[in-house]
Amino acid sequence: MKSETKLSKMILKDLSCCILAAGEGSRMNTEIPKVLHRVYKKPLISYVLDTIKTLKIKKIVTVLGYKAREVEGYVEKDSQIVIQRRLLGTADALRQAKRELTTTKGHLLVLCGDTPLIRPETLVKLINHHISSGASCTVLTALLRNPTGYGRIIRNDKGLIVKIIEEKNASLYEKVIEEVNTGIYCFKNKDLFSSLDEIRLDNIKREYYLTDIVQILVKKGRKVESLQSDVAEEVLGVNTREELTNIHRLLRIRVQKRIISQGVTIVDPETTHIDEGVEIGKDTIIEPFVRIEEDVKIGRGCLIGPFTHIRPETTIKDRVKLGNFVEVVRSTIDSGTKVNHHSYIGDSEIGKNVNIGAGTITANYDGDKKNKTIIKDGAFIGSGSILVAPVKIGKNAITGANCVVNKKDVEDNTVVVGVPARLLRKRKRIEIKDEG
Ligand code: UD1
Ligand code: CA
Repeated sequence: MKSETKLSKMILKDLSCCILAAGEGSRMNTEIPKVLHRVYKKPLISYVLDTIKTLKIKKIVTVLGYKAREVEGYVEKDSQIVIQRRLLGTADALRQAKRELTTTKGHLLVLCGDTPLIRPETLVKLINHHISSGASCTVLTALLRNPTGYGRIIRNDKGLIVKIIEEKNASLYEKVIEEVNTGIYCFKNKDLFSSLDEIRLDNIKREYYLTDIVQILVKKGRKVESLQSDVAEEVLGVNTREELTNIHRLLRIRVQKRIISQGVTIVDPETTHIDEGVEIGKDTIIEPFVRIEEDVKIGRGCLIGPFTHIRPETTIKDRVKLGNFVEVVRSTIDSGTKVNHHSYIGDSEIGKNVNIGAGTITANYDGDKKNKTIIKDGAFIGSGSILVAPVKIGKNAITGANCVVNKKDVEDNTVVVGVPARLLRKRKRIEIKDEG
């Protein structure tokens, strides 16, 4: 069954969201605020915000604190910002958001800014479960083989959740519990905000733990529910560099799974890096050690790699071959074209069935601005050619090995050679076979 990724209008009407992101990230050994650490170029906080945006929740409040000024820029266009001046823990962070939220009715989804892989479908499931069960609080939990560092879920003999105990406060018996708190919850605003101030300062960490709310609500006889995520990896938080590296790995696998399911062969996933959002057509093969960055589209039946680097704003059409140590950026390469060895293609528009010889360079940068290279259908670029842009190589034209085409366009069906390139002769017929 396909999981829901949308919330009903009825639920959205009364739902707001709060993201806790004020923490310093001291365990990261860093001067950069934790939520600005990047996974595949995108800050952790932006993953959380992008996921929330897909749910279409109108009211989103983000709590910032440590170096708030630096974080603001990444958050302000998608959410309201509240500042937590002293980092007194997750309960205190939520208390700061109180003035921006309705405290007497509706529901609140609470997330942490350091949990980037959470999927919209899990949040939808959590919210729907929370609303339909009528609970005061619903905790998203997960089973982790290594629960170290997470709050543990304590249940009574009926299996109901009664308490969350933080790692630092847990006994040996509690530490073996593998069901953890993900730091993601839904609350009835009324019950949350009437109990939040009852949370006491924790003696070990000198913080107000939001997790204590569970015990407080249970003691008051309120219903506390839980939902277990069925993809444990999505709830992993980032507190250390090691965990950040692990998130990179998990995201790489997530992206590659999507691409493989669309009919692409990835020969060696471990050495292949593909950014989120990249589109690759059916029956394309990605050889080892390939890096494909964001904003890249690749057609069907292409052969990419090994050791190819495709950078943003690039479109590769069908049956294109890009081989060893080829770098392409801000370019379009049309069907059937081959760039097999050691070439740099930048700011270029390359036509159909072009053959780019080994070591060809498009010299696109003149020290001031980037200039365009146009290579028309059927052209044959000799090995080691340097094409100094702006320049156009005509249809079925040939450049000789090692020539330098210095901003002087090459006519259709002509052969140029030398440094600087000069006309050698006209081509009588198409001499180039589709080989190379
Ligand atoms: C928290 C939970 C823990 C859970 C884990 C899941 C508490 C007390 N513990 O622990 O049960 O298993 O998340 O990842 O809530 N923050 C603030 N202000 C603060 C402190 C933290 O905004 O004063 C923010 C942080 O920026 C972070 C989030 O709250 O995004 C969680 O804080 P963190 O210190 O990472 O808590 P954990 O120890 O991971
Ligand atoms: Ca955390």
